[in-house]
Amino acid sequence: MTNPFTPTFGVIPAHMAGREHIISELIRALEAGPGDPGLTTILTGARGTGKTALLSYLADEASSRGWVAVNVSALPGMLDEILQQTLRNSSHLIERKGAFKLSGIKVADLAEIQFQSADNDHPTWRIRMEEALGQLAEADAGLLITVDEVREDLDEMVQLASVFQHFVRDRRRVALFMAGLPTHVNGLLQNKSVSFLRRANFHELGVVSDFDIEQAMRKTIEDGGRGVSPEALSRAVQLTAGFPYMMQLVGYRAWNESPERDDVTLEDVDSGGLYARNDLQRKVFDTTFCELSKGDVRFLAAMLDDEGPSALADIARRMEKKSNYASQYKRRLMEQGLLVDNGQGTVRIALPMFKDYLRERLG
Ligand SMILES: Nc1ncnc2c1ncn2[C@@H]1O[C@H](COP(=O)(O)OP(=O)(O)OP(=O)(O)O)[C@@H](O)[C@H]1O
Ligand SMILES: [Mg+2]
Repeated sequence: MTNPFTPTFGVIPAHMAGREHIISELIRALEAGPGDPGLTTILTGARGTGKTALLSYLADEASSRGWVAVNVSALPGMLDEILQQTLRNSSHLIERKGAFKLSGIKVADLAEIQFQSADNDHPTWRIRMEEALGQLAEADAGLLITVDEVREDLDEMVQLASVFQHFVRDRRRVALFMAGLPTHVNGLLQNKSVSFLRRANFHELGVVSDFDIEQAMRKTIEDGGRGVSPEALSRAVQLTAGFPYMMQLVGYRAWNESPERDDVTLEDVDSGGLYARNDLQRKVFDTTFCELSKGDVRFLAAMLDDEGPSALADIARRMEKKSNYASQYKRRLMEQGLLVDNGQGTVRIALPMFKDYLRERLG
């Protein structure tokens, strides 16, 4: 039987675990239309928490509600890509509605997209987009732009934000859903030209509850045509520790232990779980670790003596530094989505199992 789990980055899972609150809020915003604050939303979260999957899921939901969705990553050429996808993804509306003409707009090549000075021969990106939006409006359709991997060092990000703000002011039917690692999102928001984005709607994607993981796992297995014993399911949930990517890894590996059998067993989960842990280390933790500075690593190393959360005062003492030095790294690591403020002067590591990984790597 085909394995129904999707341990591939960016792929929408067969069943989303959790995230209902965000999904329903954003779908409500799409349905409410112009003026709804949810229509400008930024999702952040550490690697593998499901930002890209959620963006794609929302884009699909929007499309099924009559919105045209365009999906890009924040890379050079992004604005051109948005325009081209807008034209391409609206073409079905042209066929259905005779009035919908696109011949007036030519897709520009990169050099042609000018931002500042407009003249008739070289309409700006904003003018081209407004023309497309006007035609979409005739067909009663809105435009959702999703931008993944948001980063601060791309001028086109700032340009998009400033033009989008005009669309919103003009009460056009537009939505902008963005996602990125917390460091990059924070970096972007420091840019003075994007104050508009600082007032956007924010969601931090954290761990998913065991209950939600359990439900999504069971449904994924059952829809895949097999069953799972309660013990096996509860072990799988325990191994997942609320981490969406790990749910896919554990499910995928456990399934493959004996794909021809009717049920996924506890033994399948235990042996598959070992592979899953390995995958998680290689694909998430190694990358995350390589992105840390020396100071970040020293801060995290100073947390390893504690089973649970660590007191900032203890961390500073173990680092042999003043507490304001430690606070600086606390802030940095929180911005990277790796650390959570646990209240009363304590912090804990946000990514499940990352502490064990650090113990092995640094110990
Ligand atoms: N809510 C969810 N429930 C179950 N599985 C999920 C969920 N969200 C994402 N996944 C799965 O987790 C994996 C990682 O998801 P995704 O690629 O969206 O992460 P990401 O946050 O974009 O990571 P990165 O920051 O590295 O781009 C994928 O295999 C995806 O299918
Ligand atoms: Mg992603």
